[in-house]
Amino acid sequence: MNIVIKDTAEEAVRADVLVLPCFENPPSDIYADINAIIGGLIAKVINTKEFTGKHNQLTLLHAHGINASRILMIGLGKQAELTPERLRQAGGKAFSYARDLGCSDIAVSTMQFRTTLQEFAIATGAKNKQVVYFVEGGLLSLYRFEKYKKKENGKGLATLIVLDDDKGLPLKKIETVVSAVMFARDLVNTPSNDMTPTALSVAAQSLAENKKIKVKILEERDTKKEGMGAYLAVARGSAEPPKFIVLEYKGGKGAPLVLIGKAITFDSGGISIKPAEGMEKMKYDMAGGSAVLGVIKAAAALGLPVNLVGIVPATENLPSGTAFKPGDVLRAVNGLTIEIISTDAEGRLILADAIGYALKYYSPKAVIDIATLTGACSIALGNEAIAMMGNDQDLMEQVKRASEETYERVWQMPLYDEYKDYLKSDVADMKNAGGRKGSLVTAAYFLKEFAGTTPWIHLDIAGTAWNEKDKPYIPKGATGIGVRLLVTFLEGLCPAGK
Ligand code: BES
Ligand code: MN
Ligand code: ZN
Repeated sequence: MNIVIKDTAEEAVRADVLVLPCFENPPSDIYADINAIIGGLIAKVINTKEFTGKHNQLTLLHAHGINASRILMIGLGKQAELTPERLRQAGGKAFSYARDLGCSDIAVSTMQFRTTLQEFAIATGAKNKQVVYFVEGGLLSLYRFEKYKKKENGKGLATLIVLDDDKGLPLKKIETVVSAVMFARDLVNTPSNDMTPTALSVAAQSLAENKKIKVKILEERDTKKEGMGAYLAVARGSAEPPKFIVLEYKGGKGAPLVLIGKAITFDSGGISIKPAEGMEKMKYDMAGGSAVLGVIKAAAALGLPVNLVGIVPATENLPSGTAFKPGDVLRAVNGLTIEIISTDAEGRLILADAIGYALKYYSPKAVIDIATLTGACSIALGNEAIAMMGNDQDLMEQVKRASEETYERVWQMPLYDEYKDYLKSDVADMKNAGGRKGSLVTAAYFLKEFAGTTPWIHLDIAGTAWNEKDKPYIPKGATGIGVRLLVTFLEGLCPAGK
């Protein structure tokens, strides 16, 4: 999309639609200049209470006298209740509505934002930040996944004109992050017959278009040499070759931060097979890996001054004559042995080897893993929050701050020492599943044993990676969660890097 910042008057801008944001119960002289030109239409819909400015309310006006073909009024809710999230949602509602109308050029007035004194506790950076959140939600809402549809929808919005005199609005940055979110959403939405481990590795390699990103793919034989017995066991049931994807982005100095993303391109449960109902959803079991690819893509495009390594172990989890089985004992890359109780607890196995590999080759400053790891995550938190656990409270506080800023909310769960007992095995160092009780936490506890003393955070996105229903700026399907959260977290690590 072509995004321009123009210091043009509302009535003069040429566009298919002119968006006018309004707080709740607007004064009847709001947008008085335009109102006068178009014969009082704005005052009319306000006086008749057709439009009250309630949050996310939309009213479309066809008007003569101005250069824009239409006016779209969008409610921001009460001024005192304005938050970044309310702005994102309103932006999402307005942009997707305009797109669905068939508009190509959209202009947004920032007049109301300019006269707002509302300060966000967590907002930093440019003045007029309000419009940046509005545009962020707007752009995120435009996502569509239609590569398998016969009829293409309309072309979509081509140009966004932000009516403002501040050329320094960080809209390029927003666009960069949004396109990384869309990249992740596309990978997750693509069904597993096309999004194989090989296809995911090809997508990862495409990131090397940016010369600052190096991509290395470890083939099955390489991971055998490394002794990744846990990862390889999961891969054994599938005819698709597994790909252990490693990305490096060097933007800074010192030990890297390692991001690890679970990429089970399809999780049938393996021999511990899942019920048929809803199994088609298990194509999204690679949302963590996709988020990591999105974060690296965005971090490199923004030139963030950090050293990053992304590790994305990719494989399918299928039952077959060669599949691993309950009762098997595996040896992970760090030497720990694991008794398999359920082949459906496969995510922690591939993550264990990824963490082991990270510690062996990178001596990381910290490790963050992101994974659709447990059904219990959505039982506990529904679709509203990422479950976070880790061994470093300071680092977790930083992720919490990023989560408040982005509204990709995290909620911390405990990792008490007592959970260790849940994973005690009679034959091996650990078992891979500790039963139903506390299974969100025991999954994380399992990973903690592999992280050792390295600062580490686990993010379970099983409840948040997929939307059953359209939300104002996240359409049904893959959400791309984790990309905005982690990019914002990384920005927080480098205050100069905004
Ligand atoms: N990929 C699933 C977790 C999942 C379930 C993600 C539903 C998204 C939606 C994971 O591999 C899994 O099967 N976990 C098991 C673990 C159990 C066997 C200990 C679970 O949570 O049921
Ligand atoms: Mn599973
Ligand atoms: Zn899984």
